[in-house]
Amino acid sequence: MAVLKIAKLGTPTLRQVAQVVPPDKIGQRSFQQFIDDMLETMEAAEGIGLAAPQVFQSEQVTVMECKGEEGFPLTILINPQIVGFSPVSAEGWEGCLSIDGLRGRVKRAVGVRVKFLDRDGKSHELDATGLYAVCIQHELDHLQGRVFLDRMSDMSTLTQLEEFEKYWRTEHAEVI
Ligand code: NI
Repeated sequence: MAVLKIAKLGTPTLRQVAQVVPPDKIGQRSFQQFIDDMLETMEAAEGIGLAAPQVFQSEQVTVMECKGEEGFPLTILINPQIVGFSPVSAEGWEGCLSIDGLRGRVKRAVGVRVKFLDRDGKSHELDATGLYAVCIQHELDHLQGRVFLDRMSDMSTLTQLEEFEKYWRTEHAEVI
């Protein structure tokens, strides 16, 4: 296992559409190792989600986990596709491991249905709501070369981390 270097905003990989993973690659030891490395990197960075382009790999892979009451289980999505959005949206604070020290408010669907392959190459569909749904949308954006800044409708909510903690943290506790 290894902690991988995280690509920061400006890295071309973060702006590319990631490649679909060929199903016969999923069982390969090097690919399984890569997933484990992504999990270790996410944990070391104290993030709740990480997409392969954020570790310089242009592949359709993302991992996420959020421990605690408001959280969601460890989830590994390969070649994910959102196949349904709830009609209702809500705005919440987002940040990103590839964008140091910034938070901004982003409007997202409150629920999504996502189709994906797991790390055994099996196909699944998953319904997610709340923070889980927001995280899935944020991470799948990374696979399309998008970051949360692109999704902000009002850039005036952009705040640096220290000011977020000082002025905004208590109002909305959930942060991706
Ligand atoms: Ni991110």
